[in-house]
Amino acid sequence: MDLSGVDLSSVPRHVAAVMDGNGRWATRQGLKRTDGHAAGEHALWDTVYGALDLGVEWLTVYAFSTENWKRSTEEVRFLMNFNQQLLIDRSQELNEQGVRIRFAGRRNWRVPKRLIRRQDESIELTKDNRKLTLTMAFNYGGRAEIIDAMKAMVADGVAPGDITEKRLRQYFYDPEMPDVDLMIRTSGEFRISNFLLWEIAYSELVFVDTLWPDFRRENLRDAIIEFQQRERRFGGVDEA
Ligand code: IPE
Ligand code: IPE
Ligand code: MG
Repeated sequence: MDLSGVDLSSVPRHVAAVMDGNGRWATRQGLKRTDGHAAGEHALWDTVYGALDLGVEWLTVYAFSTENWKRSTEEVRFLMNFNQQLLIDRSQELNEQGVRIRFAGRRNWRVPKRLIRRQDESIELTKDNRKLTLTMAFNYGGRAEIIDAMKAMVADGVAPGDITEKRLRQYFYDPEMPDVDLMIRTSGEFRISNFLLWEIAYSELVFVDTLWPDFRRENLRDAIIEFQQRERRFGGVDEA
């Protein structure tokens, strides 16, 4: 990959991606929606390798939302098996690449136990890696995350006066996850669809028309170049 247009000293630390457009990609080719999900696998690994090349430290991908249960039984079942197989096929390789695998989402609600077991194995296998943290947002909803955090906080007996942004974060699915710097959504949709609501408060948003199965590391690079042209102010005033 040609990195000449990228300022490697200011690569976003945390990139999040809404991997959208698999169904449309498949329909356009006369295939089943599930074939589109299968085709998205290559895009995912290419993006992971791109993130490694670019020096992105955190990559979070939206794999299954709390709203995706509305889909047909066939599609939901496919996605459960597919996400399990990904881990079986790739955890070892990712481990060798220095990738730490993590998950964000509701674990104790509807997700098959065998998939949770695979997830735990991947977490355990890769836990000492630091090059890139790949978080699969699975059975994830931004609202669910905030509600689950609040429930846990109340259960812990945290007093109202002790509730701060920092404290709430400690109850999120991954308390170590930093704010998102760059959020990418593929497939020409201009919405967030309940992804990382809290964490994107000051993210730069990049929307691309590419359907997820066609997304490659070069698309990640180009989104980062666009990010680097933005001026982030965080509510302040640019001094320059
Ligand atoms: C994203 O692709 C993958 C998941 C939501 C699991 P879609 O399946 O939403 O594809 P479109 O948006 O219908 O094309
Ligand atoms: C968001 O895409 C969820 C994932 C990519 C996993 P959706 O396709 O589910 O979102 P909507 O329905 O277009 O908002
Ligand atoms: Mg979609």
